[in-house]
Amino acid sequence: MSKKQFKFSTVIRVAVIFSAITSTTAMGHGGAKGIVKERMDSMKEMGDAMKVMGDMVKGKRDFERSAFKQGAETVSKHSPKIPEFFPKGSGGGVSEALPKLWLEWDQFTSVVDRTTEEAQKLGELSTNGADRRALTKQFISLSKSCKSCHTDYRKKKKEKH
Ligand code: HEC
Repeated sequence: MSKKQFKFSTVIRVAVIFSAITSTTAMGHGGAKGIVKERMDSMKEMGDAMKVMGDMVKGKRDFERSAFKQGAETVSKHSPKIPEFFPKGSGGGVSEALPKLWLEWDQFTSVVDRTTEEAQKLGELSTNGADRRALTKQFISLSKSCKSCHTDYRKKKKEKH
């Protein structure tokens, strides 16, 4: 694949994945309280970190390896805490968590582990001087693990009115 083609397809892929991982609902979370609010805030911090890196991958921002290091650290820090943020019975109301996540807990936590591992890999690459292409590839793998959990366990985004 030529460099140009790689870049083009990457931008499209990242754009598609992105709407699934950085979006928050139109409803806003004024009503979220306690653990639900905490997990939304934690997810949002990961979303913000992913957005900075995504903008670099898409060429909207200057590429800086240090931003990948930082972003990977943010995700590595938040991701392992995901299971604690989803105690049984914390769905419903303003939460977008699908009840089946508690029925498929092992699968849910295995996606958590994958996300943490992908973030750690990204961190390692960024400290080992990996080039842009390698960082982009690993960033996409990480985005996919966020997306796979959202696809299975988060309600679909509501249509805007
Ligand atoms: C193991 C499952 C899982 C993984 C992995 C995961 N998420 Fe989430 N995420 C959820 C669930 C479930 C919700 C809905 C939570 C709720 O509304 O109670 C959510 C909500 C969000 C939200 C919306 C927060 C808000 O304010 O409502 C963002 C942004 C987000 N995730 C980003 C990410 C990013 C970025 C990653 C990867 C680095 C990620 N998530 C990984 C399950 C996951």
